[in-house]
Amino acid sequence: MKGVLLAGGTGSRLDPLTRITNKHLLPVYDRPMISYAVEALVKAGIDEIMVVTGGTHAGEFLRLLSNGEEYGVRRLTYAYQDRPGGIAEALGLAERFVGTERVLVMLADNVFGRTIRPTVERFGQQASGARIVLARVPEPEHLRHLGVPELDEKGRVVRIVEKPAVPPSQFCVTGVYCYEPSVFAVIPTLIPSSRGELEITDVNNHYVAAGEMSYDVCDGFWGDAGESIDAYYNVVDEVRRNGANLG
Ligand code: DAU
Repeated sequence: MKGVLLAGGTGSRLDPLTRITNKHLLPVYDRPMISYAVEALVKAGIDEIMVVTGGTHAGEFLRLLSNGEEYGVRRLTYAYQDRPGGIAEALGLAERFVGTERVLVMLADNVFGRTIRPTVERFGQQASGARIVLARVPEPEHLRHLGVPELDEKGRVVRIVEKPAVPPSQFCVTGVYCYEPSVFAVIPTLIPSSRGELEITDVNNHYVAAGEMSYDVCDGFWGDAGESIDAYYNVVDEVRRNGANLG
Protein backbone atom coordinates (compact mmCIF):
# COMPACT_ATOMS: atom_id res chain seq x y z
CA MET A 1 0.00 0.00 0.00
CA LYS A 2 1.23 3.49 -0.85
CA GLY A 3 0.96 6.49 1.47
CA VAL A 4 -0.01 10.05 0.60
CA LEU A 5 0.51 12.86 3.11
CA LEU A 6 -1.42 16.05 2.43
CA ALA A 7 0.38 19.18 3.57
CA GLY A 8 -0.97 21.93 1.30
CA GLY A 9 -3.72 24.45 2.04
CA THR A 10 -3.37 27.91 3.55
CA GLY A 11 -3.38 27.23 7.30
CA SER A 12 -5.45 30.38 7.70
CA ARG A 13 -6.88 29.27 11.04
CA LEU A 14 -3.38 29.48 12.54
CA ASP A 15 -2.64 32.93 11.09
CA PRO A 16 -0.29 34.78 11.77
CA LEU A 17 1.89 31.73 12.60
CA THR A 18 1.31 30.44 9.07
CA ARG A 19 2.34 33.72 7.39
CA ILE A 20 5.96 32.79 7.88
CA THR A 21 5.89 29.05 7.37
CA ASN A 22 3.72 26.15 6.24
CA LYS A 23 1.37 24.93 9.00
CA HIS A 24 2.76 21.40 8.83
CA LEU A 25 6.25 22.66 9.66
CA LEU A 26 5.19 24.33 12.92
CA PRO A 27 6.65 22.68 16.02
CA VAL A 28 4.66 20.07 17.88
CA TYR A 29 6.70 19.57 21.07
CA ASP A 30 10.16 18.60 19.79
CA ARG A 31 9.53 18.04 16.07
CA PRO A 32 7.84 19.73 13.09
CA MET A 33 4.19 18.70 12.81
CA ILE A 34 4.53 16.59 9.65
CA SER A 35 7.09 14.30 11.32
CA TYR A 36 4.30 12.67 13.32
CA ALA A 37 2.33 11.83 10.18
CA VAL A 38 5.42 10.36 8.49
CA GLU A 39 6.03 8.28 11.61
CA ALA A 40 2.38 7.16 11.67
CA LEU A 41 2.67 5.77 8.14
CA VAL A 42 6.06 4.12 8.67
CA LYS A 43 4.86 2.46 11.90
CA ALA A 44 1.87 1.17 9.95
CA GLY A 45 4.25 -0.52 7.50
CA ILE A 46 3.94 2.03 4.68
CA ASP A 47 7.34 3.05 3.36
CA GLU A 48 6.54 4.50 -0.09
CA ILE A 49 5.16 7.96 0.51
CA MET A 50 4.24 11.05 -1.51
CA VAL A 51 4.04 14.42 0.26
CA VAL A 52 1.69 16.88 -1.44
CA THR A 53 2.27 20.48 -0.48
CA GLY A 54 1.88 23.98 -1.90
CA GLY A 55 2.41 27.67 -1.18
CA THR A 56 5.65 29.49 -0.56
CA HIS A 57 7.49 27.19 1.84
CA ALA A 58 7.35 23.93 -0.09
CA GLY A 59 11.15 23.70 -0.34
CA GLU A 60 11.47 23.41 3.42
CA PHE A 61 9.88 19.96 3.33
CA LEU A 62 12.89 18.72 1.36
CA ARG A 63 15.23 20.22 3.92
CA LEU A 64 13.35 18.49 6.72
CA LEU A 65 12.53 15.11 5.21
CA SER A 66 15.18 14.84 2.48
CA ASN A 67 14.81 11.41 0.86
CA GLY A 68 13.11 10.00 3.95
CA GLU A 69 15.84 7.53 4.96
CA GLU A 70 16.21 8.99 8.45
CA TYR A 71 12.49 8.36 9.00
CA GLY A 72 12.48 4.80 7.66
CA VAL A 73 10.91 5.76 4.32
CA ARG A 74 12.15 3.67 1.40
CA ARG A 75 10.82 5.96 -1.33
CA LEU A 76 9.79 9.57 -0.72
CA THR A 77 8.41 11.74 -3.52
CA TYR A 78 6.80 15.16 -3.62
CA ALA A 79 4.01 16.89 -5.53
CA TYR A 80 3.13 20.57 -5.66
CA GLN A 81 -0.48 21.80 -5.52
CA ASP A 82 -0.74 25.11 -7.39
CA ARG A 83 -3.68 26.46 -5.39
CA PRO A 84 -5.56 25.10 -2.37
CA GLY A 85 -8.35 23.43 -4.33
CA GLY A 86 -9.28 20.99 -1.60
CA ILE A 87 -8.19 17.74 0.00
CA ALA A 88 -9.60 15.59 -2.81
CA GLU A 89 -7.87 17.73 -5.45
CA ALA A 90 -4.56 17.36 -3.60
CA LEU A 91 -5.04 13.58 -3.51
CA GLY A 92 -5.68 13.60 -7.27
CA LEU A 93 -2.07 14.75 -7.78
CA ALA A 94 -0.88 11.37 -6.46
CA GLU A 95 -2.66 9.30 -9.12
CA ARG A 96 0.42 8.21 -11.06
CA PHE A 97 2.44 7.62 -7.89
CA VAL A 98 -0.24 5.31 -6.48
CA GLY A 99 -0.88 3.52 -9.77
CA THR A 100 -2.85 0.30 -9.32
CA GLU A 101 -2.11 -0.10 -5.61
CA ARG A 102 -4.22 0.80 -2.61
CA VAL A 103 -3.52 4.04 -0.79
CA LEU A 104 -3.60 5.37 2.73
CA VAL A 105 -4.14 9.13 2.78
CA MET A 106 -3.35 11.17 5.87
CA LEU A 107 -3.82 14.86 6.57
CA ALA A 108 -0.47 16.01 7.91
CA ASP A 109 -2.06 18.13 10.66
CA ASN A 110 -3.66 15.09 12.31
CA VAL A 111 -1.92 13.47 15.28
CA PHE A 112 -2.84 10.12 16.83
CA GLY A 113 -1.85 8.88 20.27
CA ARG A 114 -1.81 5.26 19.13
CA THR A 115 -0.53 3.64 15.96
CA ILE A 116 -2.92 3.44 12.99
CA ARG A 117 -1.44 0.06 12.04
CA PRO A 118 -4.62 -1.94 12.94
CA THR A 119 -6.61 0.11 10.41
CA VAL A 120 -4.07 -0.57 7.67
CA GLU A 121 -4.14 -4.30 8.49
CA ARG A 122 -7.94 -4.45 8.47
CA PHE A 123 -8.07 -2.58 5.17
CA GLY A 124 -5.64 -5.17 3.81
CA GLN A 125 -8.24 -7.85 4.63
CA GLN A 126 -11.11 -5.82 3.17
CA ALA A 127 -12.15 -7.00 -0.32
CA SER A 128 -12.73 -3.54 -1.80
CA GLY A 129 -13.92 0.00 -1.16
CA ALA A 130 -12.72 2.43 1.48
CA ARG A 131 -12.06 2.62 5.21
CA ILE A 132 -12.00 5.63 7.53
CA VAL A 133 -11.12 6.23 11.17
CA LEU A 134 -13.68 7.87 13.44
CA ALA A 135 -12.97 9.59 16.75
CA ARG A 136 -15.47 10.21 19.53
CA VAL A 137 -15.97 13.95 20.03
CA PRO A 138 -18.61 14.72 22.65
CA GLU A 139 -18.77 18.51 22.13
CA PRO A 140 -21.20 19.60 19.35
CA GLU A 141 -19.32 22.91 19.05
CA HIS A 142 -16.16 20.99 18.09
CA LEU A 143 -18.01 18.69 15.67
CA ARG A 144 -19.30 21.69 13.71
CA HIS A 145 -15.74 22.20 12.42
CA LEU A 146 -15.32 18.60 11.21
CA GLY A 147 -16.80 15.90 9.00
CA VAL A 148 -19.46 14.01 11.00
CA PRO A 149 -20.96 10.60 10.12
CA GLU A 150 -24.61 9.76 10.55
CA LEU A 151 -24.89 6.16 11.79
CA ASP A 152 -27.90 3.84 11.58
CA GLU A 153 -29.09 1.53 14.37
CA LYS A 154 -26.59 -1.14 13.29
CA GLY A 155 -23.75 1.38 13.44
CA ARG A 156 -23.34 1.62 9.65
CA VAL A 157 -22.43 4.97 8.13
CA VAL A 158 -25.46 6.37 6.29
CA ARG A 159 -23.78 9.58 5.13
CA ILE A 160 -21.09 12.03 6.19
CA VAL A 161 -21.89 15.71 6.66
CA GLU A 162 -19.05 18.24 6.37
CA LYS A 163 -19.10 20.92 9.07
CA PRO A 164 -22.74 20.31 10.10
CA ALA A 165 -24.74 22.99 11.93
CA VAL A 166 -26.44 20.12 13.78
CA PRO A 167 -23.99 17.19 14.16
CA PRO A 168 -25.78 13.88 13.42
CA SER A 169 -23.58 11.84 15.82
CA GLN A 170 -20.88 12.20 18.46
CA PHE A 171 -18.15 11.05 16.09
CA CYS A 172 -15.95 12.87 13.63
CA VAL A 173 -14.17 11.54 10.56
CA THR A 174 -10.45 11.91 11.23
CA GLY A 175 -7.88 12.67 8.54
CA VAL A 176 -6.96 9.05 7.76
CA TYR A 177 -8.56 7.50 4.68
CA CYS A 178 -7.88 4.15 2.99
CA TYR A 179 -8.93 3.70 -0.63
CA GLU A 180 -8.75 1.19 -3.41
CA PRO A 181 -7.34 2.70 -6.66
CA SER A 182 -10.88 3.43 -7.93
CA VAL A 183 -10.68 6.63 -5.86
CA PHE A 184 -8.89 8.28 -8.80
CA ALA A 185 -11.95 7.68 -10.97
CA VAL A 186 -14.19 9.25 -8.30
CA ILE A 187 -12.24 12.52 -7.92
CA PRO A 188 -12.90 13.82 -11.50
CA THR A 189 -16.67 13.41 -10.92
CA LEU A 190 -16.70 15.78 -7.91
CA ILE A 191 -18.27 19.24 -8.02
CA PRO A 192 -16.53 22.00 -6.01
CA SER A 193 -18.29 22.77 -2.71
CA SER A 194 -19.55 26.21 -1.63
CA ARG A 195 -16.02 26.95 -0.36
CA GLY A 196 -14.68 26.21 -3.87
CA GLU A 197 -12.92 22.96 -2.90
CA LEU A 198 -13.10 19.32 -3.96
CA GLU A 199 -14.16 17.76 -0.66
CA ILE A 200 -12.85 14.47 0.67
CA THR A 201 -16.25 14.05 2.33
CA ASP A 202 -17.81 13.81 -1.15
CA VAL A 203 -15.31 11.07 -2.04
CA ASN A 204 -16.21 9.24 1.17
CA ASN A 205 -19.94 9.63 0.52
CA HIS A 206 -19.41 7.95 -2.85
CA TYR A 207 -18.19 4.81 -1.04
CA VAL A 208 -20.94 5.14 1.60
CA ALA A 209 -23.60 5.22 -1.16
CA ALA A 210 -22.01 2.18 -2.83
CA GLY A 211 -22.14 0.27 0.50
CA GLU A 212 -18.34 0.02 0.46
CA MET A 213 -17.34 2.14 3.44
CA SER A 214 -15.93 0.55 6.59
CA TYR A 215 -14.54 2.24 9.66
CA ASP A 216 -12.60 1.90 12.87
CA VAL A 217 -13.04 3.99 15.99
CA CYS A 218 -9.80 5.43 17.26
CA ASP A 219 -9.11 4.20 20.80
CA GLY A 220 -6.57 6.77 21.93
CA PHE A 221 -5.96 10.47 21.52
CA TRP A 222 -6.78 12.12 18.19
CA GLY A 223 -6.24 15.79 17.39
CA ASP A 224 -6.38 18.11 14.38
CA ALA A 225 -3.58 20.59 15.09
CA GLY A 226 -4.76 22.88 12.29
CA GLU A 227 -8.28 23.40 13.53
CA SER A 228 -7.63 26.38 15.80
CA ILE A 229 -4.86 27.81 17.93
CA ASP A 230 -6.35 26.07 21.00
CA ALA A 231 -6.55 22.74 19.17
CA TYR A 232 -2.91 23.20 18.14
CA TYR A 233 -1.78 23.74 21.75
CA ASN A 234 -3.95 20.86 22.93
CA VAL A 235 -2.06 18.58 20.50
CA VAL A 236 1.30 19.98 21.63
CA ASP A 237 0.42 19.38 25.31
CA GLU A 238 -0.85 15.88 24.63
CA VAL A 239 2.22 14.84 22.61
CA ARG A 240 4.53 16.32 25.24
CA ARG A 241 2.80 14.42 28.05
CA ASN A 242 2.01 11.11 26.37
CA GLY A 243 3.81 10.84 23.02
CA ALA A 244 2.26 9.85 19.67
CA ASN A 245 1.83 6.81 17.42
CA LEU A 246 2.35 4.43 20.35
CA GLY A 247 1.80 0.69 20.24
O1 DAU B 1 -8.99 16.76 10.56
C1 DAU B 1 -10.14 16.08 10.18
C2 DAU B 1 -11.02 16.91 9.25
O2 DAU B 1 -10.21 17.30 8.12
C3 DAU B 1 -12.23 16.10 8.79
O3 DAU B 1 -13.12 15.86 9.89
C4 DAU B 1 -13.00 16.83 7.69
O4 DAU B 1 -14.01 16.02 7.20
C5 DAU B 1 -12.05 17.19 6.54
O5 DAU B 1 -12.71 17.95 5.55
C6 DAU B 1 -10.88 18.00 7.07
O6 DAU B 1 -11.38 19.24 7.53
P1 DAU B 1 -10.47 20.54 7.70
O7 DAU B 1 -11.36 21.73 7.73
O8 DAU B 1 -9.57 20.34 8.86
O9 DAU B 1 -9.61 20.55 6.37
P2 DAU B 1 -8.47 21.59 5.97
O10 DAU B 1 -9.00 22.50 4.93
O11 DAU B 1 -7.90 22.21 7.22
O12 DAU B 1 -7.37 20.66 5.34
C7 DAU B 1 -6.79 19.60 6.10
C8 DAU B 1 -5.45 19.26 5.54
O13 DAU B 1 -5.53 18.94 4.16
C9 DAU B 1 -4.45 20.38 5.67
O14 DAU B 1 -3.70 20.17 6.83
C10 DAU B 1 -3.63 20.30 4.41
C11 DAU B 1 -4.42 19.48 3.45
N1 DAU B 1 -4.90 20.27 2.29
C12 DAU B 1 -6.03 21.03 2.41
C13 DAU B 1 -6.49 21.75 1.33
C14 DAU B 1 -7.75 22.60 1.43
C15 DAU B 1 -4.20 20.20 1.10
O15 DAU B 1 -3.16 19.52 1.02
N2 DAU B 1 -4.65 20.93 0.03
C16 DAU B 1 -5.78 21.70 0.09
O16 DAU B 1 -6.16 22.32 -0.94
